[in-house]
Amino acid sequence: MAGLIDLVQTLTTPHTLDRYLELVHPTLTVRDMRAEIVEVDRDTRGSVTLTLRPTRQWRGHRAGQYVQIGVLIDGVKHTRCYSPIDPQGDGGDRRLRLTVKAHPNGLVSQYLRRRAEPGMVVDLAPATGNFTLPEPNSERIVLISGGSGITPVLSMLRSLDAREHRGQVVFLHYARSPEMVPHRAELVRIAERRPNFHIALGYPGTWPSEVLSGAPWSCAASPISGRFGYDQLERIAPWFATAQTYVCGPASLMDAVRTVYEAEGLEDRLHTEEFTFTATPVRPDEVTGTTIFSASGVTAGNTGASLLEQAESAGLTPEHGCRMGICMSCTAIKRSGCVRNLRTGELDADPDHPIQLCINAAVGDARIDI
Ligand SMILES: Cc1cc2nc3c(=O)[nH]c(=O)nc-3n(C[C@H](O)[C@H](O)[C@H](O)COP(=O)(O)OP(=O)(O)OC[C@H]3O[C@@H](n4cnc5c(N)ncnc54)[C@H](O)[C@@H]3O)c2cc1C
Ligand code: FES
Repeated sequence: MAGLIDLVQTLTTPHTLDRYLELVHPTLTVRDMRAEIVEVDRDTRGSVTLTLRPTRQWRGHRAGQYVQIGVLIDGVKHTRCYSPIDPQGDGGDRRLRLTVKAHPNGLVSQYLRRRAEPGMVVDLAPATGNFTLPEPNSERIVLISGGSGITPVLSMLRSLDAREHRGQVVFLHYARSPEMVPHRAELVRIAERRPNFHIALGYPGTWPSEVLSGAPWSCAASPISGRFGYDQLERIAPWFATAQTYVCGPASLMDAVRTVYEAEGLEDRLHTEEFTFTATPVRPDEVTGTTIFSASGVTAGNTGASLLEQAESAGLTPEHGCRMGICMSCTAIKRSGCVRNLRTGELDADPDHPIQLCINAAVGDARIDI
């Protein structure tokens, strides 16, 4: 069969067979994986949950992983990462759910929140990522999330529920208000079903926190108040030093959790996932020179921002996805000059070298081929 596909592929060159098949139906593919949106739920303020039916190439995901979807907006394909909220599985049920928070000024998330509808087809890449539950399972697990960071840890919680995990589980989620917690009804159902799962929702500075279940080891009716900190963690999961902890959320929450685990010498028990990255500050003496975007003939003064942001500020629209160095969709050739990797701090002065625009900043003059 693969040989026959290769032969037909040769006959249809320069276009792939899938380019022709999509004229018949967008989800009729031999190689490319796509997914059709079959359900759209806008019940939670500020976000949308999409149920997708992937094409037959879908092999499922491990709880905590993410997929990339490509969404066509005004004729241009935009790729973004989203973490499925379903329990871990091999994809046999051909269902995939994504919860997308509408980001202020966000192109794709706002589009999906406003315009996604059943029948829309998106590109889909296989699930990937190392933010996954341990195999075999740890007896004790702490899951912490904030805002849209709930998605990968919700998948973990649902997987533990599906496996009827008998150990102690704490799920601690922070939001601005109760109506901004997605999948709340399901959290309540899990809490009722699993007395060994302790589910708490915190609304720092706004509403009183809520406890959806009271585990035997907890003596607190309202175990969390205010922002995340050692006392709060100790109160809700006094055994956290012996647990595996998973956290995903905004930078402030991630920093607070890291501070506690580093102070306790427990870094190896902490697993983190971020949707954005915090750039290492560039040295002021490096913010000099001119950046030339050679393919478009645009020149900009170096501001020290990432090359993606510099290009966007100069009116260009380079392809991008994650904006944090993982999806590779912003890769472009640096023809000359030096750049600093904003994640690792490393310098790269090689000519004609591929770089990721979102995580590199120019050091002096640079010529980039976009
Ligand atoms: C591994 C991973 C998993 C993820 N999982 C989820 C998930 O499950 N749910 C979820 O909601 N999100 C998730 N995300 C985030 C998601 O991929 C998108 O980043 C998010 O939806 C915003 O995309 P957007 O197109 O709406 O925003 P974009 O248009 O890409 O903008 C993103 C940010 O960049 C800024 N920006 C845009 N244009 C410019 C410019 N010209 N100059 C400077 N800044 C600019 C915007 O103001 C905004 O702050 C995940 C990200 C990663 C990396
Ligand atoms: S946008 Fe994903 S690596 Fe740059």
